[in-house]
Amino acid sequence: MKTLDHVNVSGKRVFIRVDFNVPLDKKDGRVADDARIQAILPTLRTVMDSGGKAILASHLGRPKGKVVPEMSLAPVARHLAGILGKDVPLAPDCIGATVRSMVDALPNGGVILLENLRFHPEEEKNDPDFSKELASLADVYVNDAFAVSHRAHASVHGIIRFVPVCAAGYQMAKEVEYFKKSIENPRRPLAVVIGGAKVSTKIGVLENLIPKVDVLIIGGAMANTFLKAQGYRVGKSMVEDDFISKALELLKLAQDRNVRVLLPVDVVVAPDMESGAQARVVDVASVPEDAGIFDVGDRTVKAVTEALSGCATIVWNGPLGAFETPPFEKATFALAAFLGSSKALTVIGGGDSASAVKKAGMDHKVSYVSTGGGAFLEMMEGKSLPGIEALEACMGKE
Ligand code: 3PG
Ligand code: MG
Repeated sequence: MKTLDHVNVSGKRVFIRVDFNVPLDKKDGRVADDARIQAILPTLRTVMDSGGKAILASHLGRPKGKVVPEMSLAPVARHLAGILGKDVPLAPDCIGATVRSMVDALPNGGVILLENLRFHPEEEKNDPDFSKELASLADVYVNDAFAVSHRAHASVHGIIRFVPVCAAGYQMAKEVEYFKKSIENPRRPLAVVIGGAKVSTKIGVLENLIPKVDVLIIGGAMANTFLKAQGYRVGKSMVEDDFISKALELLKLAQDRNVRVLLPVDVVVAPDMESGAQARVVDVASVPEDAGIFDVGDRTVKAVTEALSGCATIVWNGPLGAFETPPFEKATFALAAFLGSSKALTVIGGGDSASAVKKAGMDHKVSYVSTGGGAFLEMMEGKSLPGIEALEACMGKE
């Protein structure tokens, strides 16, 4: 990908689309997790240090085209100012005369953050006039917002045909590089661990990945549907009955492709998620009628880590259990710890897995944690992301 390294930004207005859609603390409204802010610092610092005028643009939440004060980017501006050790002014809007004069007044090496793009309905509509307005702020357009590149929105897609020069930010380039290293062109054996609540949201991922992987590990509540499909009784566990035949189809596909599949062999059951004190481990064949499955058991964790020990590349998306509700975090944290100590290339994607890796203190020990949730999943599904497609087309044109 053509990155920032290939464009001259000195003295230029550099419009950088970032994804500052970060969680805010419910009590004090401050940034609760700044991973997405940290991720774009190399791009931002390079632009500023090279004498460019950095214009940061982002969405936050889903304000649905209206000004929602709770979704202002003000807390992000303050947080970023703290990191940079200098003031980061927040423009009152992302388009219009006031914004333009603030941008015009920026010194070389200066930075400004525009207000939430999604306060305008035109952003999500990919409106051409709005795209053009945004583009009028840019001498150079940089997309460093991988996590929103699955959206064909004005600031990631429409804007591109109106800007003179395009480049990928370093974070974007890194996301694409790790996707290539892990899924497209991996060192083998390649294992993928898929967890999370619902099979229905992971079908596209499984269909695309099964022909590519050597080992497939299925955990989380979605494993219940596979277990039921294989004839096990799963008690009160969450199951998607409509997807039982799909689960069988996927297992058959894996078998045809010689993929080694691991499903839970033991599970942690309890009367309900709130009754952790009554949790106990049972064999998958002995799940009581009046209990539900909330995690996988120790024998499963052992089988999983043994299978992963022989792999050169491991990709993980989706927790193995209800890790936000102790004591159902054990398997997920054990997997995170294993990945942190593994010598394999370890790539983690998806909001829940990323947060589990962080909670387990392993976020700096694994090879790579993607900033993407939905975008990461769509890459895993083999889809081409509109933001990346438009960016590549634009870079090819120059
Ligand atoms: C995300 O967090 O998934 C991205 O910022 C995109 O946000 P969206 O799902 O609201 O489009
Ligand atoms: Mg999303």
